[in-house]
Amino acid sequence: MWDFVLRARKAPTTAALATPEPGDGRFLEVVSHCVVSALFASRRARADTTIHLAFDGPAAPPKVVRLAGAELGSLPGLDERSIWQVLRQALERGQNLALAQSCPVGPGIWVAKMSFEQLVRERLAAGPVYAMAPAGDDIRTTPLEPPASFLFTDHLAMPRKQDRYLTRLGVRALSVGPEMLLASHCMVVVHNELDRRGAGSP
Ligand SMILES: C[S@@+](CC[C@H](N)C(=O)[O-])C[C@H]1O[C@@H](n2cnc3c(N)ncnc32)[C@H](O)[C@@H]1O
Repeated sequence: MWDFVLRARKAPTTAALATPEPGDGRFLEVVSHCVVSALFASRRARADTTIHLAFDGPAAPPKVVRLAGAELGSLPGLDERSIWQVLRQALERGQNLALAQSCPVGPGIWVAKMSFEQLVRERLAAGPVYAMAPAGDDIRTTPLEPPASFLFTDHLAMPRKQDRYLTRLGVRALSVGPEMLLASHCMVVVHNELDRRGAGSP
């Protein structure tokens, strides 16, 4: 199983604030584009992939929404508005969760009240975790076996302190190339690399 984690530090954690109106912030487009890139190939969901969205914005942080390609089937649409309709439902469902609690939202969708740090520790217990960054080890020469997790940030960089924390936990930096790309584009490159190795979903 391949897992993509997107850290969106300013993304809303309550349904009422998660409305994709112009001017609301880049997180709306970044998050929705990442969901599509991580979970979908043309005409199908990627059955061996999950994405965890770690939101820390207002008004009830932290929240993690997990979408699993294997059970998701399809979504109402792959445009920003449709994706956020699904995420709003998840945040609404999770509004009364206590810390460390989670609940299902619909097929292939869960919401949890969980910190980013806790999520990383959980992923590390399952397998290697890679922090995606242009200066990391080259993905082309790095052996990758499932289960593995790939961590991304949205348009806001990871705080330095957190970078050091991840390194201490044993998270390795991994690069898809020297250019700083959009997180959603990196996800496509990672999938392409896995597909070419025959390690992607059937
Ligand atoms: C738009 S970039 C973030 C830009 C942010 N302003 C910064 O300076 O870190 C989004 C994320 O995509 C990932 N990323 C971008 N380019 C990458 C590359 N060449 N290799 C691996 N990951 C990359 C990183 O996780 C990065 O934080």
